[in-house]
Amino acid sequence: MEYAIFAIIAYLLGSIPSALVVGKAGYNIDVREHGSGNLGATNAFRVLGKKAGIIVTLSDILKGTLAVILPLLFDAEVNRLIIGLFAVLGHTYPLFAKFKGGKAVATSGGIILGIYPLLFVIMITTFLLTLKLTKYVSLSSMITGVISILISLFYRDVGLLIVISLLTLFVFYRHKENIKRIRNGTEPKIKWM
Ligand code: G3P
Repeated sequence: MEYAIFAIIAYLLGSIPSALVVGKAGYNIDVREHGSGNLGATNAFRVLGKKAGIIVTLSDILKGTLAVILPLLFDAEVNRLIIGLFAVLGHTYPLFAKFKGGKAVATSGGIILGIYPLLFVIMITTFLLTLKLTKYVSLSSMITGVISILISLFYRDVGLLIVISLLTLFVFYRHKENIKRIRNGTEPKIKWM
């Protein structure tokens, strides 16, 4: 029962479409109709600008973090990584945005932040360094996923290894269009770093 309750809460939290809310409330813009059309932080940066991009990034991270911190606050005996997966599911297939959401990056980061903060710091550092070098957010997200699998080996925690691997596979799957664009040279690079 506890699993069901916290999984539903996590899914609903993840389903809050931050990019859509910030775009519509603050700018009267539906980000789904612009840029990559993705309901994620990168497209919020691209379409709405730096300030909105930062707000969306933080909100999308927070959704994951909150989802895995709530069971802790209520002393629930659940595997918080599994609960976190439901937040990622909500973010990518949001109930409140016709099941078309983001690409699983920031919210996955959020669940890692809430359970393994040091791993999160390593992930964010990897992401920023890769972004600085390549200028591709999508590629940096995928490389960060792969590096995080390698780093998680040091934790000697099979659950973490499985969840990180699943999330990374899912991130690759959600970036299939980006992968095509990187291969044919049409993936946009960021200009602000
Ligand atoms: O987190 C999503 C990012 O990696 C790519 O987003 O909008 O460039 O497809 P976008």
